[in-house]
Amino acid sequence: MKALILVGGFGTRLRPLTLSVPKPLVDFANKPMILHQIEALKDVGVTEVVLAINYQPEVKASHSQISILQLRLCLLKKASFYFLQVMLNFLKEFETKLGIKITCSQETEPLGTAGPLALARDQLIDGSGDPFFVLNSDVISEYPFEELIQFHKSHGGEGTIMVTKVDEPSKYGVVVMEEETGKVERFVEKPKMFVGNKINAGIYLLNPSVLDRIQLRPTSIEKEVFPQIAADQRLFAMVLPGFWMDIGQPRDYITGLRLYLTSLRKKSPSKLSTGSHIVGNVLVHESAVIGEGCLLGPDVAIGPGCVVECGVRLSRCTVMRGVRIKKHACISNSIIGWHSTVGQWARVENMTILGEDVHVCDEIYSNGGVVLPHKEIKSSILKPEIVM
Ligand code: GDD
Ligand code: MG
Repeated sequence: MKALILVGGFGTRLRPLTLSVPKPLVDFANKPMILHQIEALKDVGVTEVVLAINYQPEVKASHSQISILQLRLCLLKKASFYFLQVMLNFLKEFETKLGIKITCSQETEPLGTAGPLALARDQLIDGSGDPFFVLNSDVISEYPFEELIQFHKSHGGEGTIMVTKVDEPSKYGVVVMEEETGKVERFVEKPKMFVGNKINAGIYLLNPSVLDRIQLRPTSIEKEVFPQIAADQRLFAMVLPGFWMDIGQPRDYITGLRLYLTSLRKKSPSKLSTGSHIVGNVLVHESAVIGEGCLLGPDVAIGPGCVVECGVRLSRCTVMRGVRIKKHACISNSIIGWHSTVGQWARVENMTILGEDVHVCDEIYSNGGVVLPHKEIKSSILKPEIVM
């Protein structure tokens, strides 16, 4: 079986982390987001994953023609070219490690959420007639792909989408379905009025025939393709068992980590840390060093090569690879980007997001600071703000 992961956009809502790497490579629970998906796909027998990348070649303009807007566009496109290289190098490494084929399908203009399927048509069809998976790259769950395959086989329709219940459905695609059979009656993307509370989880299994419904142009699968298959009564939905979260923004990322660790506690408790210095669910990479007298948890992930000095207090936070936290610092509800340093007795809280290689000096307080990469913080950040 094959799978396509939609990897478009610049991940602006997850800045400053996405200033250093493309969104799918941002670490979540000590592993790039996209690896969680690729590993789960491999576990159910997927042999090839196609990454649908929205990369645009550089604008060709002479100096005299370049306006500030064009210059900005040029820089953005350069960044996107750089990110593409980063992504390809990273995935080459994992192709061998995981033993799964990873290919790219590059757009020369953003094709939305359906157009990329038409572009990758030849990569997705292998003559077997098997359905293929499609995933949004920023969703995290237990990826119950085996259940999805079984349900898809049982209803005989053209496509299955996974749905989950949320309190605030208006920022998602809402699905109205027949309770008994799962047949989708309506699909409404980002409804202005309440339609229901079951939303599209961004995980699909589609028959090759769905590709005949998609043209090679910018198209939305949510607005154009799903409503059409639903009208033909050929679209089905399955309520996703377990947790789900779109982790494309910091607050949801931190909530997502809590849900992920709760699920890990049930499935593989031995992966979580134990001891009198641990509260609740804490994931510590084996190469991280933890000092005496720390209190860690709940809902903390500490990445490879981190050094946490004595007396540190961490709760509801992610500490990425190579970070040093000096003695008696206290961090809560925050994300500490790769190779940053938090000084002794510093207090970092309330959705503070430190980009890569940020240095917070001793005894500093950060209340919701969003700090760009390579900065040194010498004075306290008293209210949520972006530090450039
Ligand atoms: N290749 C490519 N090209 N990918 C794209 C493009 C594009 O032009 N535009 C968006 N994507 C990718 C994004 O990277 C993401 O993985 C996925 O398509 C969905 O786009 P988002 O921008 O994250 O959409 P959303 O979060 O507002 O809504 C979508 O996800 C919800 C669940 O989180 C929709 O599918 C909703 O229906 C759904 O409920
Ligand atoms: Mg999203």
